[in-house]
Amino acid sequence: MREALARACANVALVKYWGKRDELRNLPAVGSISVTLADLVADARVSVGGRDGPRFIGHGRAVEGRAARRMEEYLDWLGRELGTAERLSVEVDTTFPVGAGLASSAAIHCAVAAAAASVLEVAVERGRLSALARVGSGSAARSVYGGWVEWHHGERADGSDSIATPILDEDAWPVSMVVAIVDEGPKDVPSRDAMRHVAETSPLYAAWIASQPPDLAAMRDAIAARDLEAVGTIAEENCLRMHAITFAARPPIVYWSPVTLAAMEAVRGLRRAGCTAYFTIDAGPQVKVLCRPGDAQRVAKTMSEVPGVVRTLSSSLGPGVRLLEGATPWT
Ligand code: PMV
Repeated sequence: MREALARACANVALVKYWGKRDELRNLPAVGSISVTLADLVADARVSVGGRDGPRFIGHGRAVEGRAARRMEEYLDWLGRELGTAERLSVEVDTTFPVGAGLASSAAIHCAVAAAAASVLEVAVERGRLSALARVGSGSAARSVYGGWVEWHHGERADGSDSIATPILDEDAWPVSMVVAIVDEGPKDVPSRDAMRHVAETSPLYAAWIASQPPDLAAMRDAIAARDLEAVGTIAEENCLRMHAITFAARPPIVYWSPVTLAAMEAVRGLRRAGCTAYFTIDAGPQVKVLCRPGDAQRVAKTMSEVPGVVRTLSSSLGPGVRLLEGATPWT
């Protein structure tokens, strides 16, 4: 049996991916921009040639149900793409809760794609690696790179141009993200199901698609200018717009809890007190706060004092995917 071990960091979108133009390949209906987080890490050990045993182990235990089936399908697809009919299996460890709207699937699928290419000794460009990761989970396309990253909508039907590219690396403009964890349990509606439901039933979906290109352009400019106030303002507006179209679906999907709202208000309070802090929220109740590294402790203290916040995580920006064991087959 051959093995390779890869490590990828989660990423959090500041201009969100929400909606697909092709569900099979996870081609997005909109482009997105994210930051990669150093301290939310997934390790994936992919092995090839094993004959039996569970094919998806998470934190030392066999994963079951829908998550296991989806990973097995993804491993089979990866094997075909990378030219093998051999059986692939994976062991995953993460430093943070899985399936709770903390972008675990991005880190996991990116690490799996990288470890699979390594163990199968297939040389891939980083762009192709991004496309391979994307098929596992859309947002995984962005975890290939560190720092500030854009994932492009792309035009081609095969998705070969719907890949991530780096904007700024993690050291070029350091910022911090404080995650206020409200609920560590799995989310009620997986993002895949929610995106489909929103596209089919939300009367606001078309407006969302139309408003994304100007947000992306403004975000690129704000990052180029290293303007954290502008980055944060665009990120908050974009997040609220994504959740607004989700509220407007029939029936509505609401990822927030009362604690989420209290945490958002705490961020506004920090701003009123002169601290540069802005929130974003994904498909779950957790509130992620973008701030300057020097303010991270103060932000974490304020967020942890919000009644109902279970705990906080703080992270600086982190690197792109890398191999811990095995050859690096990408350029
Ligand atoms: O990659 P998925 O299918 O887990 O979807 C991610 C969706 C959001 O986290 C809400 C937004 C984003 O761009 O990451």
